[in-house]
Amino acid sequence: MSDKIVQAKNLRKVYKTTDGSDTVALKSVDMEIERGEMVAVMGPSGSGKSTLLHLLGGIDIPTEGEVLIEGKNIYKMEDKKLSKFRNENIGFIFQFHYLLSDFTALENVAIPLELRGDKEAYLKAEEMLRRLSLEHRLNHKPAMLSGGEQQRVAIARAVVCSPKILIADEPTGNLDSENAKKTMEIIKGLSEEFQMSIIIATHDVEIAQYCNYIYHLKDGMIAKIEKK
Ligand SMILES: Nc1ncnc2c1ncn2[C@@H]1O[C@H](COP(=O)(O)OP(=O)(O)OP(=O)(O)O)[C@@H](O)[C@H]1O
Ligand SMILES: [Mg+2]
Repeated sequence: MSDKIVQAKNLRKVYKTTDGSDTVALKSVDMEIERGEMVAVMGPSGSGKSTLLHLLGGIDIPTEGEVLIEGKNIYKMEDKKLSKFRNENIGFIFQFHYLLSDFTALENVAIPLELRGDKEAYLKAEEMLRRLSLEHRLNHKPAMLSGGEQQRVAIARAVVCSPKILIADEPTGNLDSENAKKTMEIIKGLSEEFQMSIIIATHDVEIAQYCNYIYHLKDGMIAKIEKK
């Protein structure tokens, strides 16, 4: 039975540049992702991967087209409702991970849970960091962590609320291939455990192999590529 969780229909994104000219980042993109599926978005630098991920996650506004999450048109929601919907359903790992520099690893992961009023925020945050082998780094601030450790804290923060959808923009971009593989194993394990749907932008063919299939972006258009 098909169980679509994310659908993009005729998505178009045109950026206005400072000199007044237009950049067409996405021309017309259609895609569908089912519950529990893990898909890769690939394509050259500048092909619109980050733009697409931001639109799918409700953090930018399409020029045309729509994004449906569990059948709901997210860009028809009022801002406040969309923020709440996003917090409850979607986890983000950004290309540049934006940890809060004044807070420890543990605090960075606990904050999204605290914002929801979860009384066990610190306990759950610690457990998630432990799963990512960071139990010895709970009280380190981001500047005291290696790049790979920071990336894993960002992953912990994105998944700690068990979102239905995880959107990850080059989550292994700063990692060596050994750590990139470990990170993908962890993400895949979480996907299976929580039936999380995962959309992951990557340049790396090996990373894409962890996914059910690949969407390839080129010249603002997308093509679905089944794995052999
Ligand atoms: N805020 C913006 N204003 C104007 N143009 C933008 C803006 N953001 C992105 N672009 C342009 O849109 C296109 C797609 O950018 P995007 O960041 O989505 O690419 P990408 O595939 O994620 O690239 P990379 O692999 O380098 O991360 C690029 O040509 C970029 O220059
Ligand atoms: Mg990008």
